[in-house]
Amino acid sequence: MSGGPFRVIEGGRTGEPTPGLLIIGAAEVVTMAGGVRRGPTQGDVGRLSVSDPHGPDAPVVACWEGRIVAVGPRAAVEGTLEAEDYPLARFARIDANGGTVTPGLVDPHTHLLFAGSREGELVMRQRGASYLDILAAGGGILSTVEATRAASETELLAHGRRWLDEMLGHGVTTVEAKSGYGLDRETELKLVEIAYRLGREGPLDVVPTWLGAHAVPPEYRARPDGVEAYVRSILDDQLPAIAAHGRARFADVFCEAGVFTADQSRRILEAARALGIEPRLHADELAPSGGAELAVEVGAASADHLATPSSEGVAAMAAAAEAGEPVVATLLPVTTWFLLKDHHAPARDLIDAGVPVAIGTDFNPGTSPTASLPLAMSFACINLGMSPEEVLSAVTINAARALLMDDEIGSLEAGKAADIAIWRTPTATQIPYWPGADLVRTVIKRGRVILDRP
Ligand code: NIG
Ligand code: FE
Repeated sequence: MSGGPFRVIEGGRTGEPTPGLLIIGAAEVVTMAGGVRRGPTQGDVGRLSVSDPHGPDAPVVACWEGRIVAVGPRAAVEGTLEAEDYPLARFARIDANGGTVTPGLVDPHTHLLFAGSREGELVMRQRGASYLDILAAGGGILSTVEATRAASETELLAHGRRWLDEMLGHGVTTVEAKSGYGLDRETELKLVEIAYRLGREGPLDVVPTWLGAHAVPPEYRARPDGVEAYVRSILDDQLPAIAAHGRARFADVFCEAGVFTADQSRRILEAARALGIEPRLHADELAPSGGAELAVEVGAASADHLATPSSEGVAAMAAAAEAGEPVVATLLPVTTWFLLKDHHAPARDLIDAGVPVAIGTDFNPGTSPTASLPLAMSFACINLGMSPEEVLSAVTINAARALLMDDEIGSLEAGKAADIAIWRTPTATQIPYWPGADLVRTVIKRGRVILDRP
C-alpha cells in the first residue's frame, strides 16, 4: 500500500519550473537552529513568532531545489532572495494558515520491520507476567521472530510502507529502522535490505540499523552455552555478512541482564565499529546493566531507553557530553507506559547533568505498538517531566544527532535539507498538549510536498 502522493524524493524540486518553495502565513516558525541541545539549552527552540501571520514581519521559510536557503521575517527573506539572485517568481507558495512550522520530525528508534502482533502479552502482563518472563518462555521477541522468518519480502515491504505512511502522517520525515526479528544471517540481511529499499523509494528517509543481538534465537536456546554460541556466530558469520552487504548504518545490541551482557555487547559493538558500522544500544531498559557506561566506552551515537541507568552511567554520559563527544540519551516513554511500569527514565537527571536527550517511539509489536512520535512527545511531558520545548529539541535536532545526521536535518537553517512539517496549531508547544490528535497539515521532504491536508 502506498498512501502518499509522492514516492520520489531525490533532488527535491530540481528541474521543476518552480524550483523554489516559500512557506508563508505561519504564526510561528520553530527553527531549532544552533546545534545539539543539552542541559539548560535543551529547551531552546529558536522560536520566531508574530501576531499577524501575513504581515511583513511574519516568519517564512524559503527553500530552493530541496534545501533551505533562508528563514526569517518575510520582508527580510524576500530581500535576501532578490539580492542572491533567486527569482521570487520561481517560488511556489504554501500558506501555513496561521499554523506553526517545525523541522520534519526525526524518529531515532523504531523496530519498523516485523510480522504479526502480540496483543495477548498485554493481558499476560496485566495478570502479572513480566516482559522477560514472557521472553524466557519463548514468547515476546521470539514469537515475532517466528512470524517474521515466515513472512515474504513482499509482505514485509507492504508492512513497512503501511507504517511509514502512518509516521509521515504524524509529521515524521526521517526514521531509524532496526532489524532484529530475523536472528539468523539470511533474515537479518533481508530486513536490513528492506529498510534500505524503503528509504530509497521514499518519500521518507529510512536509516537501517542491524540488531542481530536482539535475543538468542530458538535454535541456540536449548544449548547450555547458547548465548555465547550465538554471540560467536554473530561475530564469525552474521556481522561480516552484514558489513559486506554495506547497507546497515548502525549496529545495535539489547544489552540487558538476562539478554546480552555488557561484555558480550562490547565485543559485538567493537567488531561492528571495526567494520565501519557505528554503535548504538538498548541500554538499562529494565535493570541497570552497565549499558550507559558501555555506550560511553564504545563512543556510541546513542544509548536508548535508559529507564534504569546507574548513577555512574549518567555521570559517564555527562562527562562525555562535557568533553564534546556526546552520547545522546534516546528515551522511549511509550515503552515504560505500555509495559505498565510506574518508573520511567530519569529525564530530569539526564538534562540536569548536561546529557543531550532525544525521544523516539520504539515502534514495535511487543512494548510500543505506536508509530506516533507526537504521542511519544505527550508521554515525555507527562511521564518524564520534560517541558514541551525540551521535547521539541528531542524529536528534531537531538534526534538527528542520535542518527549522526545533525549536519543535514533536524533544524531549519540555510544549507540544510528542506524537511519541514506544518501543523494546525498556532504554537509547537501545543503538539504534545493534544495527545492522539491529527495535527499535521502539510509535510515537505527535500522541498517537495509529500502530504497535504488543507
Ligand atoms: O526496545 N527491548 C528490546 N527491544 C524492544 C522490544 C522488542 C519486542 O518486544 O518485540 C524494545 O522495547
Ligand atoms: Fe527498542
